[in-house]
Amino acid sequence: ALALLAPRDLAGLRVAISAGGTREPIDPVRFLGNRSSGRQGIALAAEAAARGADVTVVAANVSADVLAEARHPSVRVVSVGTAAELSTAMKDASASADLVIMAAAVADYRPASVSDQKLTKEQGLLTHLELVENEDVVGALAALRADGHAPEGQTIVAFAAETSEDADERLDRARRKRERKGVDLLAVNLANAEHGFEKRDNAVEIVGGGGAVVASASGSKREVAGAILDAVRRMR
Ligand code: CTP
Ligand code: CA
Repeated sequence: ALALLAPRDLAGLRVAISAGGTREPIDPVRFLGNRSSGRQGIALAAEAAARGADVTVVAANVSADVLAEARHPSVRVVSVGTAAELSTAMKDASASADLVIMAAAVADYRPASVSDQKLTKEQGLLTHLELVENEDVVGALAALRADGHAPEGQTIVAFAAETSEDADERLDRARRKRERKGVDLLAVNLANAEHGFEKRDNAVEIVGGGGAVVASASGSKREVAGAILDAVRRMR
């Protein structure tokens, strides 16, 4: 009955969503990772599909039980591991997407080289790790759009998990980040021990054109997903 009541206001919209967190290998048994469960991105996929969209989810290390929440005939899942793999998959999906949402936590850095053998204490090889910066994927997607390599009118949404307890400081950082990345909307949330990663609930403020807060939402990640998609619909 719920499905019949859900508005089909995104019917025909092609959506590409990244979810989860990338893992950057160090050696065959270790990686650099982060605490993203993928729940917010998966909730966005489920909500968009329920509202009629065709969804591609690029899932970085999302557990099977979280992925199951987006099982729907209109949701296609592409699984990736590293930031480089996520970049390739998102560029591919974004080339035919009306809406791009970067909910994944992408590693900012990766080890400069990956050892094909386990690094051992005996060799003393793990006291320092040389890192190189990863590509800014959402920045690259915005640049592709600016160069005309995206469907007309494509909307791009980014996320930012900030640890500052000061709401004004969080918003200022979010405004700068939105400008820097060239995206339309940026959803900012507080991430600390009580909020954000690995939690069932979330709270976001959505920053839009000119740095205006166009919406704020808190509650389940599905409710937050609904508010983000509402904000997208209002601006399209
Ligand atoms: N992002 C991305 N590629 C990266 C890093 C981040 O596409 N290499 C995306 C994230 O998916 C998110 C947005 O950019 O949608 C903001 O991520 P965040 O980590 O907050 O921004 P950074 O530019 O990496 O800045 P910071 O130094 O605060 O981590
Ligand atoms: Ca980052």
